[in-house]
Amino acid sequence: MTTTRKDAHVRLALAQNDGPHHPGPLDDVEFVHHALAGIDRSRVSLTTRFAGLEWPVPLYINAMTGGSERTGQINRDLAIAARETGLPIATGSMSPYLRDSGTAHTFAVVRDEHPTGFVMANLNASAGPEEARRAVSLLRADALQIHLNAVQETVMPEGDCAFGAWSTGIERIVAAVDVPVFVKEVGFGLSGRTVDLLAELGVRAADVGGRGGTNFARIENDRRSRADYTYLNGWGLTTPACLLDARGGALPLLASGGIRHPLDALRCLALGAKAVGVSGEFLSVLDEGGVSALSERIKCWLDQLSALMAMLGAATPAALADCDVLVVGRLREFCTARGIDLSAESTITPGVSGPSQSIHNEGDPK
Ligand code: FNR
Repeated sequence: MTTTRKDAHVRLALAQNDGPHHPGPLDDVEFVHHALAGIDRSRVSLTTRFAGLEWPVPLYINAMTGGSERTGQINRDLAIAARETGLPIATGSMSPYLRDSGTAHTFAVVRDEHPTGFVMANLNASAGPEEARRAVSLLRADALQIHLNAVQETVMPEGDCAFGAWSTGIERIVAAVDVPVFVKEVGFGLSGRTVDLLAELGVRAADVGGRGGTNFARIENDRRSRADYTYLNGWGLTTPACLLDARGGALPLLASGGIRHPLDALRCLALGAKAVGVSGEFLSVLDEGGVSALSERIKCWLDQLSALMAMLGAATPAALADCDVLVVGRLREFCTARGIDLSAESTITPGVSGPSQSIHNEGDPK
């Protein structure tokens, strides 16, 4: 049953990806163009630091799959692309392995193909401490992602709606493993309140996993034959909304959910994310063109990231947070409704060069 489900998730995720050119929530984040802001590209470094870690690039392949022969092959190809481009990578949920050790190779292939890379194991919050140790050990993982997916479990025909023990479960897992624990959503977003709670549980970074890309309410609705929950298809916080809601909180933020192209990644970094995760878009490239197409696409993204950073005058991913950004449209409405003060961090002084305002409301006096 699980292997069939894993294959169905891949098939349905591919079917709903409509490429990098469709509109998305990240369009509500606009860089203000400053024609003299640029720097020499030779000064740009893509290295990013958070939670005591250093990654060579602010981009990673986010959790997707494993547990069946087909998804094991996908994991192998994703890991080869990660190795060829230096990207950190996460496997999909390793609960199939915990239930059936015969599926171990479909996950372990990620470490086999990316022996010196940053590899993240992935589990749900119901996993026990010993299970978490087994998952980390199989991959010799550098970090453990725990996914929160209450909406998916609700819509999933065979979902498990025992959510009440998740917080204590996370705390126990943090205590049990000797690698940093990150928590991620699967496309419905983490609010600022949730991120603060995660900090109290000992989590080291939060991947906001917001709405705007792969939609697991739709995927699970597509797997239902009756009593569907299609009215939940628009549920959740968008990725930029999460970043603004959780900004300045207790944890470093990672961004994923609906990243279509390098500009989206830069938008997330400008809103304070330390790195940006991609799933659906990379899966589609792999599906269409194979592993060489995916490696080429990732190299192209990295090349464009540094080119655009030079254009924007940001020598590092962290420096993007000093760029002038406009928050418009639905995202601006969200900020107003949540009482998020977009001008609170203003350091701009008209007529004086230097660090510029982090975030402007559209229409703010300059
Ligand atoms: C996922 N995602 C996911 N996340 C997770 O934590 N554990 C998992 O097992 C899976 N499985 C999975 C399968 C497939 C086929 C896809 C496409 C995605 C969710 C993923 O990590 C990410 O949070 C969402 O896909 C949103 O990002 P994108 O796809 O919009 O870039």
